[in-house]
Amino acid sequence: MTPYKIALIPGDGIGVDVTQATMQVLDAAAAKFGFALEPTTFPWSCEYYLEHGAMMPADGIETLKDFDAIYLGAVGWPATVPDAVSLHGLLLPIRKAFKQYANIRPHRLLNGVEGPLKAEGFDILCIRENTEGEYSGAGGRVHQGQGNEVAVETAIFTREGVERIIRFGFEQAMMRRKHLTSVTKSNAQKFSMVFWDEVTREVAADCPEVTVSHMHIDAMAAKMVMAPQDLDVIVASNLFGDILTDLGAAIQGGLGFAASANISPDRALPSMFEPVHGSAPDIAGQDIANPIAAIWSGAMMLDHLGQTEASAAVLKAIEAATGQGIGIRPGLNSTSEITAAILSALEA
Ligand code: NAD
Ligand code: IPM
Ligand code: MN
Repeated sequence: MTPYKIALIPGDGIGVDVTQATMQVLDAAAAKFGFALEPTTFPWSCEYYLEHGAMMPADGIETLKDFDAIYLGAVGWPATVPDAVSLHGLLLPIRKAFKQYANIRPHRLLNGVEGPLKAEGFDILCIRENTEGEYSGAGGRVHQGQGNEVAVETAIFTREGVERIIRFGFEQAMMRRKHLTSVTKSNAQKFSMVFWDEVTREVAADCPEVTVSHMHIDAMAAKMVMAPQDLDVIVASNLFGDILTDLGAAIQGGLGFAASANISPDRALPSMFEPVHGSAPDIAGQDIANPIAAIWSGAMMLDHLGQTEASAAVLKAIEAATGQGIGIRPGLNSTSEITAAILSALEA
């Protein structure tokens, strides 16, 4: 069988540690299920920027185009490169260029993980719009540095962009418990979010089997803490989805547990897989980052590539490890111990 061509971008900080852990597990899964991954590593990172003056070469996107999938650790090293430069130079252009408009982020407690809430049994799928909205990059500053300075950041919502992410959310809801909550702030934001609500109602009319709720982002933040078990699929704009998925990570035990897939439903374009967390400079290079979020994101990549059994086996191995108490709390086990426990469960 032809190996799957994977573009690996470990990036910065713990991105490097968790990417290495993930590839060990994915290679073991591939060997067990009779396929192969052919990774090509790209050193695109803040270090690369300091050397070359750009986060990736000018033809970086062109280079990634022919891969079956992209796997990214994390990008950002604010001590040397401003975040707005590093992220707008690598991660965000990849999401946009390959129309990875659906960012899928699951939030549930893994076997053996308690999380900070009393709540049990929640299983949330956050579908985050990933290419426009508040991340459009449109805006500017005038009178910079003066007393009358003004900065504008324009959130752009197109009918195409809003409709496709809401439809994607409905499709996911149909495969789950058939409940969708659309998150906006249409009480305060009277153009974009009112428009989003209207499009949701239009799409809902085509999917009568799905029960739809509308919530404001502030109320949703409280709901995810107070009653997360009532939620199924959440659909949110780029920024709101970003914030809610760090909250989702927190209730599932921490950022080390939150996986993410940037899906391009156009199968001719590569999708990208990465944990929700960032490069965590505070714990980088110490072998203490939790690799579970990254490995779970790797399982999502296998699933996307059509290796559903191998994907399920990786998730089962993660839960076999956490079920034995490995990696369930920060500081309990090292990155390599957690990876070794997952590998041995996979190979058992
Ligand atoms: P962060 O997610 O890197 O870290 C937040 C906190 O969570 C830190 O205390 C960190 O130690 C902890 N943490 C994160 N991942 C962990 C893991 N796997 N195991 C244990 N603890 C973990 O967020 P931040 O500090 O806001 O950002 C740091 C850098 O990463 C910035 O440059 C930021 O822009 C970037 N960032 C990149 C991505 C990405 O590439 N996808 C995502 C988020 C942030
Ligand atoms: C994420 C990250 C990125 C985002 C940042 C680093 C630009 O926080 O993937 O959640 O906001 O999308
Ligand atoms: Mn984020």
